[in-house]
Amino acid sequence: MELYDLLANRYSVRAFKPDPIDPEKINRAISYAQRAPSWKNVQPYEVHAVTGKLKEELSTAFLENIAQKIPPHPDEPYQDKWPTYMKRRMFNLGQKLYEFLGIARNDQEARQKQFEQNYRFFGAPVVLFFFTEKEMKFWPEFDVGIFYGYVMLALLNEGIGSCPQASITIYPDMVREKLNLPENKKLLAGMSIGYPAETKINQFRSEREELDKILFWHN
Ligand SMILES: Cc1cc2nc3c(=O)[nH]c(=O)nc-3n(C[C@H](O)[C@H](O)[C@H](O)COP(=O)(O)O)c2cc1C
Repeated sequence: MELYDLLANRYSVRAFKPDPIDPEKINRAISYAQRAPSWKNVQPYEVHAVTGKLKEELSTAFLENIAQKIPPHPDEPYQDKWPTYMKRRMFNLGQKLYEFLGIARNDQEARQKQFEQNYRFFGAPVVLFFFTEKEMKFWPEFDVGIFYGYVMLALLNEGIGSCPQASITIYPDMVREKLNLPENKKLLAGMSIGYPAETKINQFRSEREELDKILFWHN
């Protein structure tokens, strides 16, 4: 696909077919994404691709922790305060998505069920975890973000959909233990990947601001 088609067609896939992905496609996509720029070329990222039995074990462990109400403790804490105009965009996303799915605002059970899909990886055959090192600060993490975006576009170029996920960073110790990774690896983000299922949720498209709300020319 052309770059502009990839940019226009990418969306967060929240229901996947169980069909496996040829690992060669993932390898190729990630090797192209490695062309992403980074601060003095430090390439401060590692991707861990999880499939099969281990993916199922991870899903079960996430859901058990959530059922036991174990408090989330991501390596990179969630942003807690947002400017009003950003809060409005977030609220708008939630409202539009649940409205699209026919889930009422006060239907906590349906909302919880939808939220838990994150921890079933939306049925994806592969889940990716993006790590850096615990001592990394803003700039290397910024680099991981650039790489993360490249990965989604390169996967789409292979016909593979993705859902970027912060939700699956909430129990980093559990993920490190399952993946046999040392304590110094910092979990920044997850991403479920696979072929989109033909379901309603995948017809949802989020809105964007008008260009003049985010691009300012100064002469
Ligand atoms: C870093 C990051 C974390 C995200 N975490 C989640 C998540 O945990 N669950 C989810 O369903 N969507 C998640 N999203 C998807 C966003 O909600 C989505 O990108 C946004 O609403 C724009 O929609 P689009 O990706 O379909 O264009 C995340 C996106 C990013 C970039």
